[in-house]
Amino acid sequence: MARKISFINYKGGVGKTSLIVNLAACLAKEGQRVLLFDFDTQSNASIWLLRLERWNKFNATGEGSVYSIFNPGTARIKELIIPSVVEGKNGEKLLPTLDLVPTTFNLVDLESEYDLDPKRPPYAIFQEQLAEIEGNYDYILFDCPPNILRAAQCGIFCSNEVYVPSNPDALSLIGFTLLIEKLSKFHQLSASFRSVEMGPPAQVRGVIFNSIKTNVDIEVPKMRMQLRLNQYRTARRVAQSAKIFNTQVRDAMVVRRAVTLGLPVNLVGQESAQEDNVSHDYRQVAAELMNHAPEI
Ligand SMILES: Nc1ncnc2c1ncn2[C@@H]1O[C@H](COP(=O)(O)OP(=O)(O)OP(=O)(O)O)[C@@H](O)[C@H]1O
Ligand SMILES: [Mg+2]
Repeated sequence: MARKISFINYKGGVGKTSLIVNLAACLAKEGQRVLLFDFDTQSNASIWLLRLERWNKFNATGEGSVYSIFNPGTARIKELIIPSVVEGKNGEKLLPTLDLVPTTFNLVDLESEYDLDPKRPPYAIFQEQLAEIEGNYDYILFDCPPNILRAAQCGIFCSNEVYVPSNPDALSLIGFTLLIEKLSKFHQLSASFRSVEMGPPAQVRGVIFNSIKTNVDIEVPKMRMQLRLNQYRTARRVAQSAKIFNTQVRDAMVVRRAVTLGLPVNLVGQESAQEDNVSHDYRQVAAELMNHAPEI
């Protein structure tokens, strides 16, 4: 059974996309079969992994992107998967087991233009289709925007686990708090659409600190996050196994450069020790994630 995981925080810009893209690449490098869904209309993960030129072709028509399963409603997820998405300069497949379902800017129409059938909300349509292909993967990862509107609901509804990328600041903690509120509201709203086979709705199982500058002490924000996590654990609003990851990802220029190169960090040739170190951080986070599988 694939582990289905959403990365989300109600605070924008904390590193959700950077973490999910680089973790997906680390997992694929370990031979895990990974499918990454881009559920953010900004299309950052799609542009990163496809590079602008390839992504532009999808964006020009909207065909082949995730919105096409809702409107015109004729596509199926299995037709949208771009296998072994990461390519080198000559089209060689650099990570054979990393697949992507891309998004384009038209995904924003799901929020207002899309004519919703209350008996078949988008997340229920998406879940039915995902069930057809999930057996082909070890990990299915959902990159979410900083909200739980209709697009993110698809990922959250199908996930068994939620992780919260966070920066060491007060706004990330507020974003986390808001996430917990919105998550339980969505779970109530969607409860009647769940089947027993889907298992219980996804709870937060971890917080991952990202973009940590050298010589910056994050003990205080970390302690505040830990206290909040403890309160939620006692109130059973997060998983009992929820934890702050031991590994934190440092701030490194190469993360921004990797976007421009259209490669995950572990495929960018390292030029300095700092770059090598952030690659190591991503590998360590991936290892922690692999060891943090939910109890069955
Ligand atoms: N470890 C890091 N070191 C340096 N820069 C980073 C790191 N992680 C993320 N960034 C940069 O911070 C910015 C925000 O990161 P990212 O896009 O991953 O955040 P996000 O949470 O997905 O944002 P959004 O809410 O817009 O989806 C980007 O410019 C990214 O390159
Ligand atoms: Mg993002």
